[in-house]
Amino acid sequence: MIDVADAVALGADRTHVRKPLPPDRLDALSRDILALKKRLNAVILAHNYQVPEIQDVADYVGDSLGLAQQAARTSAEVIVFCGVHFMAETAKILNPNKVVILPDLDAGCSLEESCPADKLAALQATNPRFHTVAYINCSAAVKALSDVICTSGNAVKIVQAAPRDRDLLFVPDENLGSWVMEQTGRPMTLWKGNCYVHVEWTHAAISRIRRDHPDAPLVAHPECTKAVRMLADEVCSTEKMVAWCKASKSDAIIIATEAGMLHRLKKECPGKTFIGAPTENCRCNECRFMKLNTLEKLHDCMENLAPRVELNPTLIARARLPIERMLEISAKPLDVAG
Ligand code: 13P
Ligand code: SF4
Repeated sequence: MIDVADAVALGADRTHVRKPLPPDRLDALSRDILALKKRLNAVILAHNYQVPEIQDVADYVGDSLGLAQQAARTSAEVIVFCGVHFMAETAKILNPNKVVILPDLDAGCSLEESCPADKLAALQATNPRFHTVAYINCSAAVKALSDVICTSGNAVKIVQAAPRDRDLLFVPDENLGSWVMEQTGRPMTLWKGNCYVHVEWTHAAISRIRRDHPDAPLVAHPECTKAVRMLADEVCSTEKMVAWCKASKSDAIIIATEAGMLHRLKKECPGKTFIGAPTENCRCNECRFMKLNTLEKLHDCMENLAPRVELNPTLIARARLPIERMLEISAKPLDVAG
């Protein structure tokens, strides 16, 4: 689990901050990437936290759920995944026979790191009645130990659909888990992991920005702490943020999630102003893992068809089941009887 001091240290590490590309270089790289995409019969899938220039050349930009759904249905031969490693791994698990590449193999996640598979297996061994719901931000090995996967976009639905006669174990994000418990009323044992970016928003910092913009609603990601979530007008996944902001009558909206989201929101809601919520201790609202991917690295990975995500077939077969279960439950209409 990342504690506050570690989170501040990670956030204060600005080594990922890049210089903007000169416009002619940006144009040339973007043109080359589009040509490579055609030549390779590739699809570029990008998470909402990717740098603007990557979002702008992607075929699809979205949240973890949308990206998994796109990966499940693509007919492209090559999947170029612009996000973090566990997301590209999910795409590989759904497409074992396709080439899956990502710009930087080191793009990890503090949540994934917080939950090693051997420690999870040891906890599971303490209670045979556990039904393990794993947030998609985890390794393939953790997915393979889980009953069902969820994302922030469908976690409430997935937990509502979980068997009533089992004890629920939710890994690895304790903040998302506690929000899901509030929404569903279902008790769960929570793994003590967190996103080092989202725990940087504090009640005090958010209260100050709300006082500065009294008419602006606040939208927060469920990976934020409860102290922040309780100040929010809406708590939702990054994709649902787009829909909420489009439907909102407000001209200005405060956003408590990773800074890459602001580019997507500005594109989708051109008339509105988006205010990135400030963090308390440092400028930590950029995920250093997501920001390892750059347009240059995207270009190079397509040219070299590397680095690739490679996984052992036995692991793929085991990790695929809980992902498919998630996709199935997500596609079903809500059972109002619960
Ligand atoms: P979503 O985009 O699925 O809401 O997830 C946020 C996140 O932190 C992914 O790493
Ligand atoms: Fe992981 Fe947080 Fe970065 Fe998302 S924003 S990839 S949860 S560290």
